[in-house]
This record gives sequence, structure tokens and C-alpha cells, in this order.
Amino acid sequence: MKTQDKVLILDFGAQYSQLIARRVRELGVYSEIVPGDLPAEEIRSRGPGGLILSGGPGSVYAENAPWPDPEVYSLGVPVLAICYGHQLVAAHFGGRNHVRPAPNAEYGRSRVSISGGGELLAGLPDEIDAWMSHGDLVDRLPPGFICLASTPDAPVAAMADPERELYGVQFHPEVHHTPQGKKILENWLYRICRLPGGWSMSRFAHRSVEEIRKQVGDGSALCGLSGGVDSSVAATLVHQAIGDRLTCVFVDHGLLREGERELVERMFRDQMNMNVVSVDARDRFLTALAWVSDPEEKRKIIGHQFIDVFEEQAAALGDYQFLVQGTIYPDVVESGTSSSAVIKSHHNVGGLPEYMKMELVEPLRELFKDEVRLVGAEIGLSDEVLWRHPFPGPGLAVRVLGAITRDKLSLARKADAIFAEEIQAAGLYREIWQAFAVLSDTRSVGVMGDGRTYGRAVILRAVTSEDAMTADWARIPHDVLDRTARRIVNEVKEINRVAYDITSKPPGTIEWE
Ligand code: XMP
Repeated sequence: MKTQDKVLILDFGAQYSQLIARRVRELGVYSEIVPGDLPAEEIRSRGPGGLILSGGPGSVYAENAPWPDPEVYSLGVPVLAICYGHQLVAAHFGGRNHVRPAPNAEYGRSRVSISGGGELLAGLPDEIDAWMSHGDLVDRLPPGFICLASTPDAPVAAMADPERELYGVQFHPEVHHTPQGKKILENWLYRICRLPGGWSMSRFAHRSVEEIRKQVGDGSALCGLSGGVDSSVAATLVHQAIGDRLTCVFVDHGLLREGERELVERMFRDQMNMNVVSVDARDRFLTALAWVSDPEEKRKIIGHQFIDVFEEQAAALGDYQFLVQGTIYPDVVESGTSSSAVIKSHHNVGGLPEYMKMELVEPLRELFKDEVRLVGAEIGLSDEVLWRHPFPGPGLAVRVLGAITRDKLSLARKADAIFAEEIQAAGLYREIWQAFAVLSDTRSVGVMGDGRTYGRAVILRAVTSEDAMTADWARIPHDVLDRTARRIVNEVKEINRVAYDITSKPPGTIEWE
């Protein structure tokens, strides 16, 4: 997209960059996050209508502090610099001595007094609450700038050089805790950058279908459909673009939730008339997993088996030039910037071998999860698919602790279905990010009808989260837990004990393995 209707966010390592991107899109302008040091020429060639310099953990005094290409200020594109970005602008135009360590680092809510305001703060009251999170601050205006706002600690909480269309704010307009933040971003996008707006999910869906048609031409595409939100929306968009030339492969590895295969077949084959090839690979996966109890080993086996099955299908089904993937924006950003340790080797269809030589079609690369759901709704997918709790690629293999058997899988599946039913019945399903049952490898003594039992223990896990990176255990009402536990021990023979996991992430992870 080379039109001037988008905003680029130069990322200096901010926790909040994705949030900025999201807010801008919510306000009707498409936005993308790019590395903070992207050369100005490259920025120019992408044709943004506005640039945002993000915050970040850096200090302009630090040796390895990230700086933007100095030419970004001469592109004639309006700039909004946030927090660390604000300090970068002050240091660039005034020198580093315009920035100093704050005597009391400000974290949290601050009272900001607006003086003048200008276009950026137009329509705001004289005082607003704003969220601060910084160690350094701008204490003098660089030449040519005027002060727009201050706090008791930060003399230059907002500044502008209206002539050159450069704006800086020390606080974070993108966070929920800055109630006027939306208005400030809106002023910047529409009064200062004069962007046309109009980015919406229906426009996105429309444009995406056109782009897929262009990319695929007369070719045909294969898609690994898991029934999860991302692959479902991606497949449906591609189906709208190329119809029968899309074939979806659904692999039943025997580690699925109850009713999963039926749901996918009903939804996509019967209702949406898509070509769906269901592969029954249960024996193969379970044989390969027999006696394996190490979690990483299980994940690797499943990953390899998955690739083998998919490859065999691709070869058997004919000549496909394109492979559809439901990669979403956080996947792109995380794989582009992360140097983090491998906690779990996540399995994705993405790991197809090089020699398969199919060109990728990734229609959701620009979207956040909630945007994917909105697109899904636009193109007619039901809530049942769009709001299904996320399910890991290795499925129940990481929820049946230790070595996997069909019997154990069946117990886990039944307990899981009961928990899901009770959460649905209590109207809690949407507010909970994921809720599931984990079958432990531990046996426990119980008593039922005057007799001793020696059964298995199940652990219920339910978390709230925004993005699965961090999560808190869900405060499910006791009576819902009570009903679930009683139903599980009564209805699932062999399970005689139910525990509820109250560990957050970190230090726990969402899945047990
Ligand atoms: P953890 O357990 O790492 O999980 O806190 C974070 C989120 O990722 C899901 N998950 C996976 N998803 N392949 C996937 O596609 C995997 O191998 C995998 N492992 C975990 C998990 O369900 C949670 O939503």
C-alpha cells in the first residue's frame, strides 16, 4: 500500500508500540510498526501520511541508545513523538542537555496542565490525567518549539513546532489510563496529518480479497485448516477470492477437543461449501507418541508428523502453487524482533520445508487478533468459530501430562468438554481467554459409595489475558467450579479429584507442558 493514508510507527522498543498501532487503526487509519532506525529513504518510499516515534526503555544518554535516521525530520511528514521519542526530538533539535534524568521517575497517573494546546491538544480541558512511565524528561524547549503542556515534574510534558509539524508528548496517549488520549491521537491524525481515514474491517476484507486474486492469479492454493480463528478467517478470505481453487487440509491427529473435527467439517464443508480434506492421522500420531513423556519431545514429534502428513497430502492432491497461512501481526512482530529464549517450541504449519516451494498467502499479516475476529464477522463466520478459545497446535498432547494413551486422552476430552459447557452456561466463555482441563499423571485415593477409589486427578485451568504473553488465573465463581468438579467426578469414571490452578503467567505458562 503506497498511498498516503497510513501511519508508520518507528519502534524504539516500547512496550506499547502494538497498542499505538491498534489505537490508530481504531481511529480509522491504517498503521504499521517498523524498526526505529529504518532509513529515511525507505520511509519515504513507503509513503506514510504521518510518523510516530514510539517510547522505549532507552535514554538519550546511553551509549547504545537507539536513534532514528536524522533525515526523518526533513521528510515533510508530520511527526508525533511519544515518551522516549519526545526526548529524542528534544535532543536532536536542542542537544542532549535538553533532556535530564527525572528527579522522581514518574510512573503512573499524572496531572497535566495544558497551556496553549495548539492543534494537538485542541478541544481538551485545561487539565487532564495522563499516564507517564519515564526515567528521563525534557526540561527545556529546543529552538523553534513551543510548550503545550506541563506537569509538576515535567516542565515540557508536550511541545510542538507547528511550522515543521513536529509534536512531542512525554505521556502515553495510547493507553487506556490517559482518558483524553484518543482525542489527542485523533487531533494528530485528522487535524495535523489531515489523513483521509476510512480504514475499517469491511474495507480491509474487500481489499484483501482483491489482493489475493491478484497474487494467486489462475493458480491454486492449499491451506492447513485447524479450526482456530486465524486459519479459519484466512481460509475463508482466500475462498472468497478464488473459490474452488482452494483446498483446505484438516489433520485429525487424535489430540483434538471433543467435537472439533465435526465442527470444522460442518462449518467449512457443509455450510461454506469449501473443499475440505479431513485426514484421519490418529493412529499415526498416537503410535509415534507412544511412551513419550517429555513435553519438548512430544512437541517435536507432533511437529514432524504434521509436516509429513501435510506434505503427503500436498503431493497426493496435485499441483498447488500457493500455501495459505493464518499468520497474524503479533507473530510477524515477534519473529522480527525477538531474541527471547525458547520456552516452548510452538508448533505451526509455518514450518514447512523449503523444498515445498509454495508461495505464501498470508492475508492476516497486518492484523491483531481482535481485528481478525472483526474481519471474520464481516465475511460471515459464526461466533462459534470466531470466539472459540485458542487451542495449541499439539492439542491435548500438552494437556495430558506424561505419556499419552487413548484412554487418558478420552478422560481429558470429557473433563474438558464439561468445563467448557459449565463456563458457557455461566456466560463466562468470552471473558475467559482459555479454559481447559489438564489430566495429571498422579493418582489419588478417594471414597465413593462407601468404597475406596484410586483414580486420576484433573486440573482445571482458566486464564484471562490480552494476548497470551501474560495471563492471570480467572476468578471463576465458586459455584461454577463446584458444579464443574462435581460433574467431572460423577460423569467421568476414573477421575476422582479436581484441582483448580491459580498460577499466573509468568511465572507459570498457560499450558502445563
Ligand atoms: P503458553 O503455554 O506458552 O501458551 O503460555 C501461550 C499460548 O499459546 C498456545 N500454545 C500454542 N499454540 N502451538 C500453538 O499454535 C503450540 O505449540 C502452542 N503451545 C502453546 C497456548 O494455548 C496459549 O494460548
